[in-house]
Amino acid sequence: DATIMKTILEKFPIYTEGLLKVGPKGYVFKHQYTNLAEKYYNFKLRSDDVFIMTFPKCGTTWMQEIAWTMRNQVNVNTDLELNVRAPFLEFDCLESMELEPLESWLEDFNSRNPGKDYKTEGLYLELATSCPSPRTIKTHLPFSLLNPSLLDTTKVIYVARNPRDTCVSFYHHHRLVKVNKYIGNFDEFVDFWCQDLLTYSPYLSHLAEGWSMRDHPKVLFLFYEDMQEDIMRELRKLNDFLGTSLREEELKVVAEHVKFANMKSRSTCNPTAAGIHVGRFEKNEGEFVRKGITGDWVNYFTPHIEEKFSAWLKSSKEAKNIPMKYR
Ligand code: A3P
Repeated sequence: DATIMKTILEKFPIYTEGLLKVGPKGYVFKHQYTNLAEKYYNFKLRSDDVFIMTFPKCGTTWMQEIAWTMRNQVNVNTDLELNVRAPFLEFDCLESMELEPLESWLEDFNSRNPGKDYKTEGLYLELATSCPSPRTIKTHLPFSLLNPSLLDTTKVIYVARNPRDTCVSFYHHHRLVKVNKYIGNFDEFVDFWCQDLLTYSPYLSHLAEGWSMRDHPKVLFLFYEDMQEDIMRELRKLNDFLGTSLREEELKVVAEHVKFANMKSRSTCNPTAAGIHVGRFEKNEGEFVRKGITGDWVNYFTPHIEEKFSAWLKSSKEAKNIPMKYR
């Protein structure tokens, strides 16, 4: 639709080369995805891989740090960045590879990791491919865009977060990450959200796909809000699911290590903490590991925004396919 496209381009210059809607559910991507879709679909799996699958801003980084630490002998002293230890499968299709800040980040990264000479092109796919076993891999791709044999080989942890907090967090993300170049306000952002026009949307289809797999023996479906309510309870579920056999004292070490304030202060998982990747981020838009609470949406939702948001939620044909508490 030409009017919608004009509005998008005014607020998101990144979509100048078009916005893709992929598969029957119409998942949204930037144009780079076209060249990489097949590689993601045919990504060579290993039997000890664990995928962390989320819609963006649902607690991916938190779960990456948790799962990686649990699967690596509770190593809380690593200097390696989280996105190297637990690589992001399809990051290559999100970033603009011509972007100068990525080049300087890479230069810095190669110099800090002796023996590494990564190139921007295909960087993240290479990190995922060359990652030593057992791999913990982050993806925002829903089940339907990955190989149908995924669960024959690997385990998947799906983390869900309530739609209102996810939307607020995604808004900050779009303001913060330079490649998104979002210049609108929150009210306008909610219009994009409700039209399912943001990358990886539709949120509800993504969530519905994850929720439909919750009883599969190789899927662990968790809620961000439950992790905040009682992290030890969720770590015990993970311990069983991953087969990591960690003792209660070790789980307590993990819980401490992944506390919000601790993760926020570590540059290995909060890229804006020490200014290492600063080129990729706007300076005055807060931090990547931002606020980490449930219910922050009340500070953003005016009655008008709430009205359009709940209308979107109620009118979606996927609404009946998501967890009751999020409807
Ligand atoms: P907010 O923007 O609401 O603060 P993702 O990793 O999927 O991008 O999700 C990001 C959200 O998870 C952000 O939410 C971020 O602050 C929050 N987060 C990151 N680490 C966390 C932690 N250790 N505990 C709680 N929330 C965390």
